[in-house]
Amino acid sequence: MAKVMIMEHPLIQHKIGWIRKSDTGSRDFREMVGEIAMLMCYEATRNLELEDIEIETPICATTVKGLKGKKLAVVPILRAGLGMVDGMLAMIPAAKVGHIGLYRDPKTLEPVEYYCKLPEDCSEREVFVVDPMLATGGSAVAAIQMLKDKGVRNIHFLCIIAAPEGLEAMKAAHPDVDIYIGALDEKLNDHGYIVPGLGDAGDRIFGTK
Ligand code: PRP
Ligand code: URA
Repeated sequence: MAKVMIMEHPLIQHKIGWIRKSDTGSRDFREMVGEIAMLMCYEATRNLELEDIEIETPICATTVKGLKGKKLAVVPILRAGLGMVDGMLAMIPAAKVGHIGLYRDPKTLEPVEYYCKLPEDCSEREVFVVDPMLATGGSAVAAIQMLKDKGVRNIHFLCIIAAPEGLEAMKAAHPDVDIYIGALDEKLNDHGYIVPGLGDAGDRIFGTK
């Protein structure tokens, strides 16, 4: 069973508090989603492999640690996942970026696929799937299945706010995927929105409502 990690870092908790507020505008919302993603990336990459590298400082020769050069990819679930990409890339700039387009049918709450473009060598990469919201779990479960169908084996999932229902769905469907959560909320409401949540993440990032 993969690990589930709920972030306790005060900076993450503080910024999540701000993006929950209904009077936080798109500009600040976007900025803080990016900052939260950057902080979460720091935790989600904790187990990346290091290797010894011989270098010269201005004083002498020494051995330092460097990333082993493992290939990484960031895959946002459109649209809202886009808000987390720059924060991730600030920490892992060499990562390639793939995109998976899914939207939730407002009536059935089932995910509908409309786009998928991944790096050619995606199956060789360690992939970080990002989406601010894990509600019923339908979108994340489907996106990760799309990656597995293309041969990707090493997958992590990062979301800023999760509902217990979505977390259970992810654990049941993809027990091999590590899950990093900024805050685990109380429940879903009758419309499939997370309570207390932050509303519609895509609309708040892009100012579409
Ligand atoms: C939101 C969110 C997730 C999904 C979560 O996207 O960004 O992708 O809902 O809900 P689920 O866990 O029940 O599937 P939405 O479908 O609103 O699309 P958008 O990002 O394009 O607005
Ligand atoms: N998608 C969102 O953007 N917000 C929710 O609360 C649930 C799904």
